[in-house]
Amino acid sequence: MSVLAEIKKPVEKEMSEFESYFNRTMKSNIPLLKIILNYILRRKGKQMRPLLVLLTAGLNGKITESAYIAATLIELLHTTSLVHDDVVDEAEERRGALSVNALWNSKIAVLVGDYMLSKGLLISVEKSRYDMLEIVSEAVKAMTEGELLQLQKSRKLNIKEDDYYKIIISKTAALIAACTATGAISATDDQDTIQLMKDLGENIGIAFQIRDDILDYEANGLTGKRAGNDIKEKKITLPLIYALEMASSQRRREIMSIVKRTKKTKDEINEVIRFVVSSGGLEYAEARMNGYRDKALAILDSYPDSDYKTSLKKFVYFTSARNS
Ligand code: IPE
Ligand code: IPE
Ligand code: MG
Ligand code: MG
Repeated sequence: MSVLAEIKKPVEKEMSEFESYFNRTMKSNIPLLKIILNYILRRKGKQMRPLLVLLTAGLNGKITESAYIAATLIELLHTTSLVHDDVVDEAEERRGALSVNALWNSKIAVLVGDYMLSKGLLISVEKSRYDMLEIVSEAVKAMTEGELLQLQKSRKLNIKEDDYYKIIISKTAALIAACTATGAISATDDQDTIQLMKDLGENIGIAFQIRDDILDYEANGLTGKRAGNDIKEKKITLPLIYALEMASSQRRREIMSIVKRTKKTKDEINEVIRFVVSSGGLEYAEARMNGYRDKALAILDSYPDSDYKTSLKKFVYFTSARNS
């Protein structure tokens, strides 16, 4: 059994209930939308966010309908963010297949993203779950801010480690914190617990994005995304920030001049990858990632033992060791 399947065990039934909710929302009568929504549905991702919502709900009480609503809303907004992110990043691959912008075009990808976003908003309104809507809308706002900050930084190429954390907390950890916050809210009213669960999600989210950024340097063929895409897109992430920090000013200038180029050859991208690897950039990023992983584990350890807790701990380990 894959690690993820094992993690899903305590909420297996609930995950399939979520899937049917999710599939129902990914519908349209417009022929082109129908085709694209189906294309996206057939290449579903790891579904880690809905899994996190349901496990957090279970950890704190009962899994009720509001947990399914939150899980569906979040997976819709996550899917939207990927479709839009691939336009912004000019990425051609997603989940092992062509991205929507590559297969159709960017205009269509923007509109399909908007459609999924509005579907997400509608579910929470239809079910009158304004509390969920508020939390998730805050996260979506943060995601947009994070992506914009990243764009601005990559244009100027002046990113420091502090900026990096600011970016990833907004663009990735905010939505993952919304998973654990909504999961908690669906099961308890206790404000301290809700805040603790939000902190749990934020730490998981930071570790998750650092791992994603490390994966961009490891061509393993499993991610369904191309290695070196971040360098290609002038996206300076933690491994490169560290390597640049450690380099002589001469070497830093050489590497920066490659990163700056709008068009880069495969050899140039490989040179940056080798530079990062030989400077220990991946080990450094991994050590920082493990710091966030351990904070998440410590929060979980404040709970009594349960199947949900065991799964959540495995989830945290998976997040920071995943290869896809
Ligand atoms: C990718 O998220 C986007 C990031 C925040 C790094 P996932 O790796 O969870 O994407 P899917 O849903 O499994 O494809
Ligand atoms: C995360 O950043 C994207 C979102 C939060 C939408 P990346 O640009 O690194 O994500 P991938 O690598 O394309 O999945
Ligand atoms: Mg991207
Ligand atoms: Mg990435």
